[in-house]
Amino acid sequence: MPAISQDQAGTAADKGPGIVIVTGASSGLGREFAGQLARDYPAFCGELWLLARRESRLQQLQAQLQPLCPCRILVLDLLTESAWQKLAQELAQAARPVCGLVNAAGIGRPGHFAAQPEAFQLQLLRLDAEVPVRLCHLVLPYLITGGRIWNVASVSAFSPQPGFALYAAVKAMILSFSRALNAELKPKGIAVTAVCPNPLRHTGFFKAQGLAGPVQGLKRLTAEEPARVVRLALRRGLRGKDISVSSFWGRLLSVAARLLPVRVWLGLEHLLGFK
Ligand SMILES: NC(=O)c1ccc[n+]([C@@H]2O[C@H](COP(=O)([O-])OP(=O)(O)OC[C@H]3O[C@@H](n4cnc5c(N)ncnc54)[C@H](OP(=O)(O)O)[C@@H]3O)[C@@H](O)[C@H]2O)c1
Repeated sequence: MPAISQDQAGTAADKGPGIVIVTGASSGLGREFAGQLARDYPAFCGELWLLARRESRLQQLQAQLQPLCPCRILVLDLLTESAWQKLAQELAQAARPVCGLVNAAGIGRPGHFAAQPEAFQLQLLRLDAEVPVRLCHLVLPYLITGGRIWNVASVSAFSPQPGFALYAAVKAMILSFSRALNAELKPKGIAVTAVCPNPLRHTGFFKAQGLAGPVQGLKRLTAEEPARVVRLALRRGLRGKDISVSSFWGRLLSVAARLLPVRVWLGLEHLLGFK
């Protein structure tokens, strides 16, 4: 059942359901976004564009969701220029209006900055920062009134984080960018929501780095289920909110990080084992 009435999906629904582009659709949060959009928001999402590199996983998802919602798969590596050319072409030829973009592709790896290969850091910068910014810019001219963008950030966005330094800095940029863009686009009836989950259970994020899951004790204890994160993110995005924080711990972090001086906050993180 939809988490909110379809009327609340904004005026995109008045123009008929449109295309929603989901990056990172082969795994984790992106896959969950696609599933919930297809199942629960037929008046908003009339066609899904599922984007990632692993074709077989996209095909499996397409087969699963096709009875609920037409799905196109786009097997693209967003770190190649040819992917951007293909996407620009597809958008120019799209048969329906575009009403949504979910920026869920992303990577991260805990550990000291100096200990991580430069190539990985640059890949992170591009995939987690440049790609969502570029996709917003590419898709915005096609986005109709009532359109929605979800940019996946993290609770790491709320404060500097030793042991996840670059990742937290990039997610802080995505949070700030999304909130400002939301304000800029409000007069056009378009909303941008920064999605800020805790570490997640059952996604490929840590596995992709050869890790079993959230490494530090506290992170493991406060880990969230992707389904719940996405349910709230969709609901809040469709209501035009600029941020979605789905856990008590996340909300506590966001308040504490605003109230405490950074020096004190960093000291607390040290005590909690973030080093
Ligand atoms: N997992 C967590 O603990 C956690 C917590 C907070 C926030 N987040 C954020 O949530 C988002 C999704 O993470 P997740 O946990 O769902 O991870 P995931 O399961 O590993 O999914 C990452 C997705 O990104 C896609 N991707 C990676 N490189 C790509 C490329 N070059 N071109 C196109 N697609 C690419 C992957 O697909 P292919 O490999 O098939 O290309 C995959 O579908 C990320 O932005 C992450 O920072 C994660």
